[in-house]
Amino acid sequence: MACTPFLTLNNGEQMPVLGLGTWQASDEEIELAVDLALELGYRHIDTAPVYGNEQAIGNVLKRWLDAGKVQREDLYIVTKLPPIANRPHEVLPMLTKSLADLQLDYVDMYLIHTPFTVLINADGNFQFDAAGLLKVDPTTNHAATWAEMEKLVEKDLAKSIGVSNFSQEQLERLLQSCSIPPATNQIEHHVYLQQRELVDFCQAQNITITAYSPLGSKGIARMNAAAGVPRDLPDLFDITEVKEIAAIHNKTPAQVLLRWIVQSNKMAAIPKSANAQRLKENFDIFDFELTSEQLETLCGLDQNIRICDFAFYRGVEKHPEFTFKNQFTD
Ligand SMILES: NC(=O)c1ccc[n+]([C@@H]2O[C@H](COP(=O)([O-])OP(=O)(O)OC[C@H]3O[C@@H](n4cnc5c(N)ncnc54)[C@H](OP(=O)(O)O)[C@@H]3O)[C@@H](O)[C@H]2O)c1
Repeated sequence: MACTPFLTLNNGEQMPVLGLGTWQASDEEIELAVDLALELGYRHIDTAPVYGNEQAIGNVLKRWLDAGKVQREDLYIVTKLPPIANRPHEVLPMLTKSLADLQLDYVDMYLIHTPFTVLINADGNFQFDAAGLLKVDPTTNHAATWAEMEKLVEKDLAKSIGVSNFSQEQLERLLQSCSIPPATNQIEHHVYLQQRELVDFCQAQNITITAYSPLGSKGIARMNAAAGVPRDLPDLFDITEVKEIAAIHNKTPAQVLLRWIVQSNKMAAIPKSANAQRLKENFDIFDFELTSEQLETLCGLDQNIRICDFAFYRGVEKHPEFTFKNQFTD
């Protein structure tokens, strides 16, 4: 069975450079996808309560662990503190719930999903104002929430802790108060949104980058349309340079986009697929190497186009820690 290279985190833990994204798949789809992904050699699985599929993923993991087909220490399971619960007192209960759903004793990485917090009603539904915009909880305190995240490591409930969608300024603040520095910052990263300053800052601080939406996240178009904010999103598979490089290596554009992220061994990528052929394709990126010229060409494609700008959370831009002001007001 194939396996992937690893990134060594700032606490010595090892994270497989290629993981499976699990956003926007039904329980049935994700059970099949995780099962096949494990057969193919994926060991890193990225999920979140927001994706609504931790129980389905947990069912597959339990089957594999019970059958002895995989050892727990060979899995790398990532989940997240949801934006509706981004408060210190919710950290332990939320992870406890995720662990129950995933049927695990610990996760390998627990992330603060977003730097902002949104409000829900007692029934679990979002709160909206009279204009139909999401209500936010502006009291978000990263240092206080992080202190509770650190306790998860002490309790052996999370091997590593990290953040997602954090800006450099937010990380700088966190680094001043933390005892355990974040092990990763999971951010949108692909050829059209390279975020070089943020990436350079994180890498200089020994915080790895996990690249989400590495293929340009077609699924976000559906979310935006459902929220009444449709946008034309770029098709990364149709970029001439990407297609030309793919043809040279006899690979697909998706494989080139993923290889570009993982080749330096400084970043992980977590493409999502619920399709057997594409799961295989996305994993089959370790038998070719992009030349330095090709890497340079791909780096030159940056357009600062953010695809996952949380437009589907209309109203969240009012939050004082909202990270994406520039893109949102474009
Ligand atoms: N931390 C955060 O805030 C955050 C935000 C967004 C995403 N994420 C994580 O990152 C993961 C990946 O991001 P994403 O799901 O937004 O987008 P993505 O991985 O860039 O793209 C997934 C989409 O591309 C399709 N696809 C996958 N492989 C393909 C291939 N080889 N050729 C053609 N199409 C392909 C998938 O369809 P099929 O399933 O039909 O193959 C799906 O529609 C998520 O699933 C989630 O785990 C995190």
